[in-house]
Amino acid sequence: MKFKQNIRGNLALGVNPVGCRQEVLNQIDYVKSKGHYEAPKKVLIIGASSSYGLATRISLAFGAGADTIGVSFEKGPKSERNLGTAGWYNNIAFREAAEKEGLVAKNFVTDAFSHDAKQEVIDYIKNEFGGKVDLVVYSLASGRRTDPDTGETYTSSIKAIGDQVVGPNINMQKEEFFTDTLEPATEQEIADTVKVMGGEDWELWMKALKDADVLSEGVLTTNYSYLGTELNRPYYGGGTLGQAKADCDVKADNINKLLADINGKAQIVVATAVTTKASSVIPFFIVYCIGLYKVMSEKGTHETPIMHQDRIYRDMIYGDNPEYDDEGRLRPDSWELDKDTQAETKELIMKLNEDNFNTDMTAYDLFYKEFSNLSGFMVDNYVDEDITINELKSWEY
Ligand code: NAI
Repeated sequence: MKFKQNIRGNLALGVNPVGCRQEVLNQIDYVKSKGHYEAPKKVLIIGASSSYGLATRISLAFGAGADTIGVSFEKGPKSERNLGTAGWYNNIAFREAAEKEGLVAKNFVTDAFSHDAKQEVIDYIKNEFGGKVDLVVYSLASGRRTDPDTGETYTSSIKAIGDQVVGPNINMQKEEFFTDTLEPATEQEIADTVKVMGGEDWELWMKALKDADVLSEGVLTTNYSYLGTELNRPYYGGGTLGQAKADCDVKADNINKLLADINGKAQIVVATAVTTKASSVIPFFIVYCIGLYKVMSEKGTHETPIMHQDRIYRDMIYGDNPEYDDEGRLRPDSWELDKDTQAETKELIMKLNEDNFNTDMTAYDLFYKEFSNLSGFMVDNYVDEDITINELKSWEY
């Protein structure tokens, strides 16, 4: 079977399962090349199948020897035309590689927002995972959430707040640079985005885990945020997504109170801008990234999710170099926010137009490659394999 890359707008529809496996192996190699570090050995990752969550899982398993439980919402293969999602194959590749090293790697493919998912994971921790977890990573990104108590489904919007935003955007399918407009959100849309991407479900998870007594003394829970800069504030930090991230700060305080008696801690990690399925659909964001990555590549500070997450856990959280802000948030995004980096990115972005956005002036090619890698295309060390749909269907997560 031939695997075909299929992009609609900035959405990746095609998947190469063999390439996904190779990409997971490449990330494992990166972590192994850095050697071992000391970190918790029993970890739950909610949103574990791609980008930041997957990178976290790979770093902790292959860098620190952690047993991991991964929760994700992915689809398996149905037919040659419908091969499912990349995260499905990432889960399989991760489990196979981890088990080869004698590590536990349990995958739950389920709706993390539901009560059932929480109960299933709790039962597994109690019955088969040694009874407790030391670290809970919350790395969900979703466009929809069904409230588990009311059954009502909410949809998040990526919109500005207050004024309309007009600016340059990129369509990767058509390799086109165009002027886009982002409308301001209604109050309802803001509230719904907070309901989906805010911290409510994170807090529900931590409450359920605490009530079930499956959290170790001194447990840590992390949640990835983004603050950005004046270059993307109108549509990100100052928009609906920014409101959702601010809600996570509030919920972190609640969780800190909840965990006080077991000396637990909720840690907001303000992560750097990276190429992920979630970030590729944020209007204007690709333009920022292709400028930023160009500048950061030249300075030697550009990171992919695996580089960033490995640095966060190895050097910062469980290492000697954490950087916190006045609000107590961890700030690995300091490389992105560096004054010179931002000034040079701004200067570069201002010069972009339809004739030069995809030339050597920018990191368009790098962004496109990283975007393709997410679906198993353009992967380093890739070797073609002839695989049938029935073989793919027999792969177990
Ligand atoms: P992603 O789209 O690559 O991964 C999202 C994960 O959530 C996947 O494992 C997916 O299966 C899982 N998921 C989605 N809905 C689910 C559900 N209902 N039940 C179970 N699992 C579900 O997202 P990405 O970009 O890695 O984002 C993770 C977090 O990092 C988000 O909070 C995001 O805001 C944050 N972040 C992202 C940055 C970026 O530049 N991409 C920058 C800073 C923070």
